[in-house]
Amino acid sequence: MSISRQKVVLVGDGAVGSAYAFAMVQQGIAEEFAIINHTHEKAVGDVLDLEDATAYTHNKKIYAAGYDTCKDADIVVLTAGAAQKPGESRLELVSRNLKITKDIVDQVMASGFDGIFLVAANPVDILTYATQKFSGLPEKRVIGSGTSLDSARLQVALSKVFDVHPSNVIAYMLGEHGDTEFASFNNATIGGVPLLSLAEFNNVPMDQLKKIEDEVRHKAYEIINRKGATYYGVATSLARITRAILRDDDEILPVSAPMNGEYGLNDIYIGTTAVINRTGICEVFELPLFDEEAKSMAHSAAVLKEITDNGMK
Ligand code: 2OP
Repeated sequence: MSISRQKVVLVGDGAVGSAYAFAMVQQGIAEEFAIINHTHEKAVGDVLDLEDATAYTHNKKIYAAGYDTCKDADIVVLTAGAAQKPGESRLELVSRNLKITKDIVDQVMASGFDGIFLVAANPVDILTYATQKFSGLPEKRVIGSGTSLDSARLQVALSKVFDVHPSNVIAYMLGEHGDTEFASFNNATIGGVPLLSLAEFNNVPMDQLKKIEDEVRHKAYEIINRKGATYYGVATSLARITRAILRDDDEILPVSAPMNGEYGLNDIYIGTTAVINRTGICEVFELPLFDEEAKSMAHSAAVLKEITDNGMK
């Protein structure tokens, strides 16, 4: 009897990739997990280390592999690429990481892969767009981690102000996963109550919310300056997106998604909420943006588009 296992392949076993692999083992997501890394020995080492954890967590077939393994994968997760150095922006990585992404996507597609790409390498919106173009897969089957991490950061920051669990905060950062991202405070709720009403009731001024938005926008720099890289946050948000796909969750998550008229945008991937399920991006869940937020989205898109057009020439 042949049993079909849910299979995820990770390409890129660096700080983000290995933290993601650990999150996958801890949470028992996907029965089969393969790791591809340019230094194969590092992947083998991580597999040996991670399989020890399965004695205490979840049974999982986990192994280091070459690109052939992508053939029957449900999801290929791309974390490979140069990472930001202290002081460097995500957009400064574009030309280096476009080359790396092209090389990887070509090899994945050569295996006969016909699943879903989940992209996390930076600049993520541009590399997700590029992955869709390089692979030729339907747009819905190419997803970027987008502003999932930034939205988690916003949830955490607001949860501290209002003294509640972060999961009680529904609040999204939208736009580029990078310096032009913005908070959609108009669409935020805490325990079902609109954030802006709750803030007024609790004497939390708009200035304080704007300061939080700015801190969220710069949090990656704060972490990179102190420890050289960020990985636990993004790894956990990647695991969450993976789970929503494999379990067909129909979950509204902030991701980098293709625009087809939403927010007045086209031919771009950008951070927005979307319904995620077994088909990938089931649909973009367009939020109503007002005034300043709509302007911020347009600005973020213009910045991304210019760099994408230059980079993809
Ligand atoms: C982050 O936001 C660097 O994109 C990475 O943590």
